[in-house]
Amino acid sequence: MTITFTTARRAPATAHVVAHGVTTEGLEDGSGLPEGIDADLLGRLGFEAKAEQVQVLPSGKRLVALVGLGDAEDISTTTVRRSAAGVARAAGKHRFLACDLAAASGLDAADATQAVVEGIGLAAYRFGYTSKKAERGIERVSLVGSTAAGVRSAVERGEAVVEGVSLARDLVNEPGGRLTAPEFANRVRRMARAKGITVKVLDEAAIKRARLGGLLGVNRGSTRPPRFVELDYRPKGRAKGTIALVGKGITFDAGGLSIKSGQGMMDMKMDMGGAAAVVGAFSALPTLAPDCRVRGFLPMTDNMLGGDATRPGDVLTIRNGKTIEVLNTDAEGRLVLADALSLASEAKPDAIVDLATLTGACMVALGPKIAGLMGRNDGFLDQVEAASERSGERVWHLPLPGDYRRMVDSSVADMKNIGGSYGGALTAGIILGEFVADGIPWAHLDIAGPAFTDSEDAETAKGGTGFGVRLLLELVAAFEAPEGD
Ligand code: BES
Ligand code: MN
Ligand code: ZN
Repeated sequence: MTITFTTARRAPATAHVVAHGVTTEGLEDGSGLPEGIDADLLGRLGFEAKAEQVQVLPSGKRLVALVGLGDAEDISTTTVRRSAAGVARAAGKHRFLACDLAAASGLDAADATQAVVEGIGLAAYRFGYTSKKAERGIERVSLVGSTAAGVRSAVERGEAVVEGVSLARDLVNEPGGRLTAPEFANRVRRMARAKGITVKVLDEAAIKRARLGGLLGVNRGSTRPPRFVELDYRPKGRAKGTIALVGKGITFDAGGLSIKSGQGMMDMKMDMGGAAAVVGAFSALPTLAPDCRVRGFLPMTDNMLGGDATRPGDVLTIRNGKTIEVLNTDAEGRLVLADALSLASEAKPDAIVDLATLTGACMVALGPKIAGLMGRNDGFLDQVEAASERSGERVWHLPLPGDYRRMVDSSVADMKNIGGSYGGALTAGIILGEFVADGIPWAHLDIAGPAFTDSEDAETAKGGTGFGVRLLLELVAAFEAPEGD
C-alpha cells in the first residue's frame, strides 16, 4: 500500500491522528503544545519530549500524538526521520495522519519534509507471504506547515527514496529459492526500463566470453546460471564526472563445499544486499536527478555445492588477469566482486564504491548497525562519510594496512581468498583492492551487519533494511570527482 502525501497549512479536520512535534524547550514553556493539552498532565504521563518519544492522547473524535524531538539545537534530519517513523508506528491502524514534524523541527523545510516522508513511508513497509490478508495502515498523510513548491518537490524526493529503499528491501527479503540470479536480473531489467535507465544483462555465455572467472567459479556448484547486470544513468546536461556502484549479488550463500552450518545459512538470502542497495538507489536517480553519470556493476549467482562445485585448492583467473587460490569456498563475495571491480575499473570512472555483505568479521568488529568503510583516496572517503552522516546510515572507517597484504599470499597464485584468523574484514578489503585499477578513488562498504535485522528500529523493519540506498543517493547528489591520490 503506497501512502499519499499532501501538504497543507493546517491539519485537516478529517484526520484520524494529528501528530505534533515537541522540543524539550517547547514542552517546558508550553509554547510547543497544542491548545488544551496540559504540560503537567503530560509530565505525569512521563512525556519529556525526548527524541522519538511518542505520547498518544484522545481528543474528541480523534487522536493527538505528541512526538518528542529532543533539544532544539540537537535536531538533525536523522532525528526527524526517526521521530516520524515513531509517529507512523503509533498511528497503528488509523488511515489518515496529519503531521507537523517538519515545521516543528526548525530545520530547512525541504530537508525536514523529505525526512518525514522517508520516516513514515519506510516505517509502513511490509513484506510477507502470510495467507491472511494484511492489516490496513496509514493511507494518507497531510504534511502540515509550508506548502511552497520547494516543499512539494521534497515530498517527491522522499517518495522516490522510500520506493528505492523498499525495492531494495523486497529484493533482500525475497527467498533465495525464488530470487535466483536470472530472476534477480529480470527484476532489475524491469525496474530500469520503467525508469528510463540503460540496462545490460550478461547471460552465462556472455559472462564466459568476458572471462569473469570469479563469478563462474562461484557459480559452478549451482544448477542456475549466473548473471552480470550493468546499469547506466546519464544526467540531462553535461555530466559532472562518473561514479561506479558495485554490489555483491549472492542470491543465497550456502558456503559452497566449505559449507556453512544450519544456523549460519539461515539468513543467507540476504547476501545480495549490496546489489539490492545499488538497484534501489538507481530506481530513485531519475527523480533525484543528480548531475553526475552513475554506472552499476552487479555480479549475481548463488553459492551452492553441486557435484562440480569449485573445490578448495582450485585456482580462478579473474577478469583483470590476476589469479586467486580458493582455499575456502565460503569466501565467495570477493571472488565475484573481483570481476565486477575489474570491469568497473575498465569503465574509467572518477570513483568506485562497492557494497557487500562480505564478512562476519566486520559484524564482530562493528556490531549489527554500522558498516565498515575501507578504501583508497581520503578525499573520496570523506565524501562517503559525509553522505553517511546526512543519510543516518552509519559507517566506521577501518584501515587497509599495506603490511597485511602478505596474509593473503599464496604459493600457487597471486593471492589466496582468505587471510589468517584475525582481521577478516581488512584482508577481504585488501583482496578487493587488488582489482581496482591504480589511481581510481575507491570506497568499500562491508554491510554484513546492517543489511539485515531481526529487530524493528525507527524506520527499519525486520528483515532486509535497504541499508546503503540513502547513503548512495546522498553520495551521488554531492559527488565531486576527487583529486588523484
Ligand atoms: N556472506 C558471508 C558474510 C556474512 C556473514 C554476511 C554473516 C552476513 C552475515 C560471506 O560470504 C562469508 O561467508 N564470509 C566468511 C569469510 C571467511 C570464510 C573468510 C565469513 O565471514 O565467515
Ligand atoms: Mn560466504
Ligand atoms: Zn557471502
